[in-house]
Amino acid sequence: MQTPPQAAARKRKSRRRRPKKRSSNPSSVGASKVKEDEKETDEAEPRPSSANVKRRKLEAAPSNKSSPPSFLDKMRARLSGGHFRMINEKLYTCSGEEAFDYFKNDPELFNVYHTGYQEQMSHWPEQPVNIIIKWLRSHSSSLTVADFGCGDARIARNVKNKVFSIDLVSNIPSVIACEMSHTPLDSSSIDVAVFCLSLMGTNYPSYLKEANRVLKPCGWLLIAEVRSRLDPNNGGADPDKFSEAVDQLGFSLVSKDMTNKMFILFYFKKRERCSSVARIRWPDLKPCMYKRR
Ligand SMILES: C[S@@+](CC[C@H](N)C(=O)[O-])C[C@H]1O[C@@H](n2cnc3c(N)ncnc32)[C@H](O)[C@@H]1O
Repeated sequence: MQTPPQAAARKRKSRRRRPKKRSSNPSSVGASKVKEDEKETDEAEPRPSSANVKRRKLEAAPSNKSSPPSFLDKMRARLSGGHFRMINEKLYTCSGEEAFDYFKNDPELFNVYHTGYQEQMSHWPEQPVNIIIKWLRSHSSSLTVADFGCGDARIARNVKNKVFSIDLVSNIPSVIACEMSHTPLDSSSIDVAVFCLSLMGTNYPSYLKEANRVLKPCGWLLIAEVRSRLDPNNGGADPDKFSEAVDQLGFSLVSKDMTNKMFILFYFKKRERCSSVARIRWPDLKPCMYKRR
């Protein structure tokens, strides 16, 4: 004979066991599991099934902060700022040819460099590439442009002009991968040559000589460089000496914009008659070392 509390306990136990009995067949276990999952996702604060979680992670990956790290996030974490600074230093202290081989041997380093570079740029109040884009938009879109050291080809993506984007590595189909001392561009075919923070190699004069070759007479040469590289008070080159050397190559300085804290912009025009000085005294541009953040 059971006491009333014992009987009640038995009833509760048998009620709890009942669903198990119904799912003794393995296929029905799956079916009932799916039903449970469906029920859960209908709740106000659903606890999604593992299948749903997987699907959602894939769909939301690019924008969802709580989603697993993207490829770029992983790159950032794995190859930290230190790795970026190491590659950056290499690019400022070797020739263009060496830099070309460096990335050719390990193209992944180019992505590491550009991830770090974009991170650094995000702290600059103004990016020179945007000023150059504005300048191009304020001139005729019929001008043909060569973007030497184009990075992520932002110029080509933001103007109507025909742009030849050149860099050491081509991750974007339209980018021409080459060392910019030797481009496949035709002589006297370009109206505007752009160097936006890209006079990195120790042989930078050869990049400007190549720009001179491809530019039409009266073509524009726009150069943006990191200010510290051209700061004689801090071991950098004298900006006037730099302008003088570019002048001796056959360009006239039209204007110079020193209003930005982080960079200087030079606007040169190629002289109609090519009158290059035989031995130009190019100043050494100080390597730009980014600070640890
Ligand atoms: C500091 S990033 C600037 C990228 C872009 N111009 C911008 O302003 O966002 C310099 C770029 O120049 C490229 N570069 C440096 N030396 C080069 C060379 N000798 N030939 C071709 N590209 C070069 C680098 O690979 C890099 O992408």
